[in-house]
Amino acid sequence: MIKKIIITGGAGFIGSHVVRRFVTNYPDYQIINLDKLTYAGNLANLKDIEDKPNYKFVKGDIVDLEFINKLFEQEQPDAVIHLAAESHVDRSITNPLEFVMTNVVGTVNLLNAAKNLWKGQYDQKRFYHVSTDEVYGTLGDTDMFTEKTAYDPHSPYSASKASSDHFVRAYYDTYGLNTVISNCSNNYGSFHFPEKLIPLAIHNITQQKPVPVYGKGENVRDWLWVEDHARAIDVIFHKAANGTTYNIGGHNEWKNIDLIQLLCSILDKKLNRAEGESAKLITYVTDRAGHDLRYAIDATKLKDELGWEPSITFEEGLEKTVDWYLHNEEWLNNVTSGNYQDYYSEQYTNR
Ligand code: NAD
Ligand code: TYD
Repeated sequence: MIKKIIITGGAGFIGSHVVRRFVTNYPDYQIINLDKLTYAGNLANLKDIEDKPNYKFVKGDIVDLEFINKLFEQEQPDAVIHLAAESHVDRSITNPLEFVMTNVVGTVNLLNAAKNLWKGQYDQKRFYHVSTDEVYGTLGDTDMFTEKTAYDPHSPYSASKASSDHFVRAYYDTYGLNTVISNCSNNYGSFHFPEKLIPLAIHNITQQKPVPVYGKGENVRDWLWVEDHARAIDVIFHKAANGTTYNIGGHNEWKNIDLIQLLCSILDKKLNRAEGESAKLITYVTDRAGHDLRYAIDATKLKDELGWEPSITFEEGLEKTVDWYLHNEEWLNNVTSGNYQDYYSEQYTNR
């Protein structure tokens, strides 16, 4: 019987949606949000549920072995849903070691703490590792990633996530820990930190700032609404068999330049600008090193075995997302003041 769940990275973009969903839909579960509150972690993402009796926040670093072991001893969780990570490819190119520490060492610390605490009762416990489609590498024009696609990561971010996935499987194969992994495509939605393409483009278009497009803008990403990802995690957490892997995606591929053009035209309308006005902000910049050309997820297994499908279209999701950013200017101003300015000029000046 699952009673207490540690959700790591619950103050981040996807984690906050997962925490909100579990706290709200499962009042009998105790949810512990374990987060270091890096630049990407923000407790303002969880304001609406922070006073719920089944929710608790613990500030801590998954790389700190002693702290993690003590926390598991004290809290005696029945399950872990692990989202904490360094998640931005551009930052991984600048500082790969930080990605190794959090994404690889942090994951192994959690696996070890779970293995020790749950000895003799693995079948009744669950370690759920949230991962990315980027571990599979890059695609040609027509193929898709399935759960059987060989790992072929290219960025320090995807290499660190691939490594963490391998460790999770090793703990299942070697010790019999009850593990589940999901690999999801690019997410978008509310509370998305504006270093990633969609929130960055919305922010810059709104502010009349250049919208940086890497290379020729021909790279393809497969976008999924974050609340559909959180619902997929809920379904997989409760229904998947031990040791399994599921791909999550929305069959929703977009070339970066087409997506940015679409955002420009949505914002032209919402901001009462002349048609084509926002598109003048599009600025082609030097490409990202090792830039994967195309990601596309085949989520047939998840649909056929567990009945999950996306709940809304991209048009609906994007409309909701743009509206959310336009109505949450204070949130955006708070996260783009201070360190964000240094990050932005380091990343984009002279690019
Ligand atoms: P995010 O960067 O928005 O949030 C990461 C969270 O982890 C932050 O709250 C941060 O404070 C916390 N964190 C970072 N290092 C930590 C540490 N050492 N100890 C404790 N907490 C720490 O990331 P996200 O976009 O919400 O992604 C969450 C997970 O989902 C990641 O594992 C990522 O690889 C995976 N994922 C993301 C996407 C996407 O499109 N964003 C797609 C598929 C999978
Ligand atoms: P991103 O949101 O960083 O996600 P990921 O690299 O994990 O897929 O980038 C999505 C795509 O958009 C990717 O092909 C890189 C591109 N991109 C830009 O063209 N300009 C930008 O300013 C950013 C942040 C990304």
